[in-house]
Amino acid sequence: MGAGVEVWWAGVGEVRRECVEDLDSVERGRLAAYVREVDRDRFLLGVTIVRQVVGARFSLLPASVRLDRTCAECGKPHGKVRTDGVELSVTHSGDLVGVAFSDRVVGLDVEKVDPGVDVDGIARFALTNSEQQELGKYEGLEKAQRFTTYWTRKEAVVKATGEGLRGDLQAEVPKGIQVRELEVGVNHRAALAVVADEPPVVRTFRFGADPLR
Ligand SMILES: CC(C)(COP(=O)(O)OP(=O)(O)OC[C@H]1O[C@@H](n2cnc3c(N)ncnc32)[C@H](O)[C@@H]1OP(=O)(O)O)[C@@H](O)C(=O)NCCC(=O)NCCS
Ligand SMILES: [Zn+2]
Repeated sequence: MGAGVEVWWAGVGEVRRECVEDLDSVERGRLAAYVREVDRDRFLLGVTIVRQVVGARFSLLPASVRLDRTCAECGKPHGKVRTDGVELSVTHSGDLVGVAFSDRVVGLDVEKVDPGVDVDGIARFALTNSEQQELGKYEGLEKAQRFTTYWTRKEAVVKATGEGLRGDLQAEVPKGIQVRELEVGVNHRAALAVVADEPPVVRTFRFGADPLR
């Protein structure tokens, strides 16, 4: 059987500000540095999902979950979030915040579709020739949507490998990485990459007021 992955989604409006209490000092610093309230809310919601789901899994209070955000490049706490015992990937864009949990290395990416995105400008450095040709068949909103699908697939891969946007976006998906598109409604596109030889078994959860039932 393929690798199991749990993907949890929440709407940014579901953020609960009292969950700030569960944050560590690094996270409180990150939170304070955001200028826009919506960025602050998305970050807080991502941390809340991570802390509550990992806490429930290992019978810990959310505040007792130890998270490491050290950047592999520079050592500052803005890297891929890690914890002992489970692989994670956090993503936020537009109205949505998502976190993937697995025993395999994962990358999750969501993007809100921007109808005004400069598809051709970005496509030149980020898409393969065949992807650019395929996109050339579309116009307007549909072109933006299809571009966003490609983009999230690529971001999911570079988030799984940990390279981030330094990774080669024009490269084919490396062998040993499974990529899957996830359905998240008309306004956003999302994709999941899993380091595995078989397609993953994905279970989706809605992170709500009483998420852990
Ligand atoms: C990681 C990256 C692909 C995220 O893309 P994005 O679409 O803007 O943002 P998303 O919301 O989807 O993802 C953000 C999350 O990715 C995670 N992340 C950060 N760096 C990451 C990396 N190198 N690989 C995988 N995940 C990473 C974090 O958990 C972050 O969320 P959090 O800080 O709230 O916990 C992009 O920001 C990037 O490439 N960053 C690294 C660039 C770099 O080289 N930095 C070095 C600076 S010294
Ligand atoms: Zn860094």
